[in-house]
Amino acid sequence: MRGKLIVFEGLDRAGKSTQCNRLVESLQQDGQKVRHIKFPDRNTPSGQMINSYLKGESQQNDHVIHLLFSMNRWEAAPSILKDIEEGTTIIIDRYYYSGCVYSAAKNNPTLNLKWAHGPEEGLPRPDICIFLDISAEDAAKRGGFGSEKYENLQMQARVRELFGYLMQSSPEKDDFVRIDAAGSLNHVQQRVKEVVVKAMGRVDAEHLPLRFI
Ligand code: TMP
Ligand code: MG
Repeated sequence: MRGKLIVFEGLDRAGKSTQCNRLVESLQQDGQKVRHIKFPDRNTPSGQMINSYLKGESQQNDHVIHLLFSMNRWEAAPSILKDIEEGTTIIIDRYYYSGCVYSAAKNNPTLNLKWAHGPEEGLPRPDICIFLDISAEDAAKRGGFGSEKYENLQMQARVRELFGYLMQSSPEKDDFVRIDAAGSLNHVQQRVKEVVVKAMGRVDAEHLPLRFI
């Protein structure tokens, strides 16, 4: 059986890293082969440019940084495909949904969601995307936003609105399951596991092929 592609999305500080780690551990305990990755991958050359931009150490125009984030995913695509083919499930902390939504949230008149989607087309499409939902205000309360580029209330509120649009009205809306992330870590973890087990079971039972964006 092929591996599955599982994505976590959400605002900064929604708890994605914690929930990814817990899910990886839990699936491994079930005897699954799992690999955990994260975008942006700050270690590659494109990732180093992204890192320096996010930290405010360099400037990029909105379109260029968008393409760098996309490039960062394309660099990883062959190894994701190979793993999935060989039966390893990939859990990703942020993917192209963040790519589209954060870029479009800047309200640049020539960079809307449709433009942002273009460079992502052809990447492997998730079997499921779990949106850990938290309000921008609650996210800000969680130890406060850090100093990175997009970590401010106004941007996060716009990002959440656009995620809402993706989940309701986009062609990808069925990829999403929204989980309320304001609850306790253990409760969220349980919900995540239920949703993931169901989605993985469905792929196997119906022999669903991996799709592409
Ligand atoms: P991180 O906090 O998950 O490391 O992500 C860094 C920031 O980059 C976060 O604010 C979301 C943003 N981002 C984009 O703008 N485009 C993308 O394609 C991705 C993956 C993240
Ligand atoms: Mg962050």
